[in-house]
Amino acid sequence: MAEGRRLLVAGNWKMNGTRAMVAEYAAGLEAVSGVQLVIVPPTIYLADMALALDGSPISFGAQDVHTQAAGAFTGDVAAGMVAEIGAQWAIVGHSERRAYHGESDELVADKLVAALEAGLEPMVCLGESLSQREAGEAEATVGRQLRSIAQRAGAESLSQAVIAYEPIWAIGTGVTATPEQADDMHRVIRNVLDDLGVPADTMTLLYGGSVNADNAADIFAGENIDGALVGGASLKSDSLVAIARALAAAKHA
Ligand code: 13P
Repeated sequence: MAEGRRLLVAGNWKMNGTRAMVAEYAAGLEAVSGVQLVIVPPTIYLADMALALDGSPISFGAQDVHTQAAGAFTGDVAAGMVAEIGAQWAIVGHSERRAYHGESDELVADKLVAALEAGLEPMVCLGESLSQREAGEAEATVGRQLRSIAQRAGAESLSQAVIAYEPIWAIGTGVTATPEQADDMHRVIRNVLDDLGVPADTMTLLYGGSVNADNAADIFAGENIDGALVGGASLKSDSLVAIARALAAAKHA
């Protein structure tokens, strides 16, 4: 494995959980040797998560950040605020943000830069819809997303991100991409990154979309896949830990 490429499993709670769940959840987590575990709860629980994970090697992050450092943006949260709480990560460009909040690649690129400026590690999400896949446009769609983000944020910024390929048709549906589909797209992403002047073999690439403890090993067999961004199956700490264990086993970490 190239230097810089890491094994990573992130649990995106989305708009789920309660304040009471945070401490119980954190207590149920176990560090998995060789794998970085990242918990991504709703923003309002970040401070509780910081306390619950104090002294733990397990890190945490936000599901979204604003492009600006401060200002009149009612309801939004700046990357610097997230960093101040002790978070290390920010997801940007999740397909649910793109779909329900109209986020464009350009906005995602600006959020990527804002996260980096605040000292956060961005996880940039990409992925095609079912109709785009059925039309044979999956690779072109993901390539276009990546190129647009790189054009706006710069290859140097992109090189500091983790990239998560999350086909929209696999999110929350129980349908995962086949291991071949997932690995193929991760290879395409590495090729596009290479083309963009980003050192592709050092980039950490995650798959997301209905990953669970039962199917994780098959997905992690793909040589281009370095981990997972997990939604539903991350809501139980033991299942997130089981996915991290599957990753360590698959990569002989
Ligand atoms: P599910 O694992 O619930 O399909 O969600 C994936 C996802 O969107 C993670 O960000």
